[in-house]
Amino acid sequence: MISARLTIDPHFVVGPINRRLFGSFVEHLGRCVYDGIYEPTHPRADDSGFRTDVIDLVKELGVATIRYPGGNFVSGYRWEDGVGPRAERPRRLDLAWHSTETNEVGLDDFAQWSRTVGSELMYAVNLGTRGVQEALDVLEYANHRSGTALSDQRVANGATEPHNVRMWCLGNEMDGPWQLGHGTARDYARLASKTARAMRQVDPDLELVVCGSSGAQMPTFGTWERVVLEETYDDVDFISCHAYYEPVDDDYGSFLASAVDMDRFIDSVVATADHVKAVRGNDKTMRISFDEWNVWYQSRYRDVDKITSVDQWPVAPRLLEDSYSVMDAVVFGNLLISLIRHADRVTSASLAQLVNVIAPIMTEPGGDAWRQTTFFPFAVTSRLARGSALELKLESPTYETGMYGPVSVVDAVATFDGASGQTAVFLVNRSLDQDATVTVDISSLGPVSVGETYMIHDEDIHAANTFADQTRVQLRDNDSVDISSGTLTVSLPPVSWTAVTLR
Ligand code: AHR
Repeated sequence: MISARLTIDPHFVVGPINRRLFGSFVEHLGRCVYDGIYEPTHPRADDSGFRTDVIDLVKELGVATIRYPGGNFVSGYRWEDGVGPRAERPRRLDLAWHSTETNEVGLDDFAQWSRTVGSELMYAVNLGTRGVQEALDVLEYANHRSGTALSDQRVANGATEPHNVRMWCLGNEMDGPWQLGHGTARDYARLASKTARAMRQVDPDLELVVCGSSGAQMPTFGTWERVVLEETYDDVDFISCHAYYEPVDDDYGSFLASAVDMDRFIDSVVATADHVKAVRGNDKTMRISFDEWNVWYQSRYRDVDKITSVDQWPVAPRLLEDSYSVMDAVVFGNLLISLIRHADRVTSASLAQLVNVIAPIMTEPGGDAWRQTTFFPFAVTSRLARGSALELKLESPTYETGMYGPVSVVDAVATFDGASGQTAVFLVNRSLDQDATVTVDISSLGPVSVGETYMIHDEDIHAANTFADQTRVQLRDNDSVDISSGTLTVSLPPVSWTAVTLR
């Protein structure tokens, strides 16, 4: 039996929780858009061809922002192909995913869908095969009210109101050799700076995200961030981070500690950004947009998914359709804990992705839509993590991992919402075989009682929700939670994630 101790004090604030921490990502990739959110022949499609069962699940998930349209896809994308009458839109080769892009869904359609699901649209421009002019064009088309060629074109296409997109990504993963238009950090940064300055001539209040590294394992990590920020510090508001995790050689101990890597990644990018800030004598503090994060079984499916034949360019192939287990959901819940812990600097994040492609929501053409295990920690955390993130005092035994050295068995974060007086605590037990009892000093919260409790745990850590068994894994209560004399105790079974609210 493992014992851990926590102290929660609402006076020790890390920073306010920005709702944009609970964002997601829709890319034109595999069946995320086509046969995912959009399937005009589905019995539950609305008049615009969007599946209403998927819309209901996205609303339940509680997604604040949605990054669109890529991803690797955006680096070869011509935004204007996706607007205007559907019948006239061109079919194009999508080089990123070796597919055919039909362009049935584009900016206006997706902006309308985003409004329907109640999420803010975050738009990425193509800095792979394109540059300043095309970024200005899509900005004018999207946001200018009317009276110019491009804005009047949008109005004529049926979108009478501007889309008013506030957050714009300046390309995607431009550090990656797989990316169309990949180059050196200096080359990319100069293009990003020019694009940002031009876009600000249209609207100085846009919020702009420059590309950081596509992973902390990239050989250029650290240097890339420094060089990019040296060139763009005055022009942008955010630098991006991307991270995906999977078990390597069944080393579940390391996999369960993936959030340790995310913590270190964020801390490194913060340190690099603050170095550039100091050198430049700049007052502005750079924020992080963690705009791709998830569990992704890249090595398991890499060769299965790959389409390479010069004659093979399928429409909406099944790509990156990972099935998520209970253990994956626990790691995933812990990644959310890491993001919240850094709420002072990470003020935007996007779970990659939303539907079918490494996603919390799965669909079958003409059939059902269902929740993967990862749906649950996201939906609960997005709903309950309100107000400010708190700095916790955590004392936990450690265990040795192959990848990260000694790490805490228990990890946790708490939030406090001054408006409602509600505290929420999120905890994980990373042990594969032992229960953990956590004793929490909540004396500084005053008299409180237990509100809601939720847990992800199963005797079978590999249990998953599938088409055949869509509700195998569900949220459970954690009925061990008890409060007495200013102390809360909670038991966490092995490989589990728990959320508790205090009123
Ligand atoms: O999310 C899947 C892919 O992962 C994205 O297209 C790319 O940006 C990243 O490498």
